[in-house]
Amino acid sequence: MTNVATRILPVDPNAPEAGLIDEAAAIIRAGGLVAFPTETVYGLGANALDAEAVSGIFRAKGRPTSDPVIVHLAEREQLGTIVTEIPSLAWALAEAFWPGPLTLVLRRSTAVPGNVSAGRPTVAVRMPAHPVAHALITAACLPVAAPSANTFSRPSATTAQHVWDDLHERIALILDGGPAPLGVESTVLDLTGPLPVILRPGGVTLDDLVAVAPDVIIRHQYLAIDATAASPGQLIKHYSPRAEMLLFDGPTALEAMRRAALERLSSGQRPGLLLMDDEAAAFASVGAEIELLGASVEQAAARLFAALRALDSRCGVILAHGLPREGLGAAVWDRMVRAAEGRVIAAP
Ligand code: TXA
Ligand code: MG
Repeated sequence: MTNVATRILPVDPNAPEAGLIDEAAAIIRAGGLVAFPTETVYGLGANALDAEAVSGIFRAKGRPTSDPVIVHLAEREQLGTIVTEIPSLAWALAEAFWPGPLTLVLRRSTAVPGNVSAGRPTVAVRMPAHPVAHALITAACLPVAAPSANTFSRPSATTAQHVWDDLHERIALILDGGPAPLGVESTVLDLTGPLPVILRPGGVTLDDLVAVAPDVIIRHQYLAIDATAASPGQLIKHYSPRAEMLLFDGPTALEAMRRAALERLSSGQRPGLLLMDDEAAAFASVGAEIELLGASVEQAAARLFAALRALDSRCGVILAHGLPREGLGAAVWDRMVRAAEGRVIAAP
């Protein structure tokens, strides 16, 4: 692909400057690509109704065309133009969770080009809560197709710098609204079958969903160790650092991590540890690189992708401690398993 000069424009995350938003919206309307912050991660946006613009997303990311992308809306009313059928549950969920980190898979209308959905009869839709995303979609007057703004299979981008590292010279503009607050992607919920099914755990938790959709199904692989099967494009090799990563789980996980770190050090490797704040002291004498994820699952979600990227640039192997899988922990666990490409070490 031809190289383009990529600009980064700082934008106020709470009250985005209209002039900057108009500039970005004009690029989208002209068929170009703009990276922008959402409340989950940064998105790489294009006009969702323009097949050529959408294929630019796939080229820029190096993403296989078999992996469908999410369409982002600014208003619930836009839903009617991109899907053929809105079940009452979809309205109830949109009422409860939009704007916010919930993506609904519905039946695609002919207004949406097939490559958005990798040829499937469905389309994934969400209404982001981030003021910059909302302002951009509103100003573009179009639904905006946007996957996460990372190179295919790399950890998602939660800052403008991450987007730049992966995509500079491939996209016209990055709107820099600071770190994406949630840090993990939206929950993807399929409403096209007999029962609602969570295809990807994310920012809206299972408990949140059950309150509105009591019969929602979450596949056990998102909660347990086997994370192989999934929605299209939910490949196990996803969010991967370049370094080898091992995920430790179970009551003696920290001891096992310590042994593994010492072994790697003695064989001349440079291990990096992904730990919660209160776990760091036990590793102080080990002499490995450490990235801390914070003191709560919310902080861990917000820091996970940045921490993976940071360790990746310094270490040959990443040793991570799995978090409890309740609430937002299910999404964090899922991303960790994928980053580890399924290499989970059970430490009973
Ligand atoms: O939070 C998010 O969802 C972020 C921000 C930018 O909105 N976007 C994001 O997009 O994570 P992406 O492309 O990285 O992930 C989209 C996920 C993939 O797992 C894809 O398989 C699934 O949504 N998906 C998209 N369209 C689908 C469809 N029609 N049917 C089933 N799954 C679909
Ligand atoms: Mg992604």
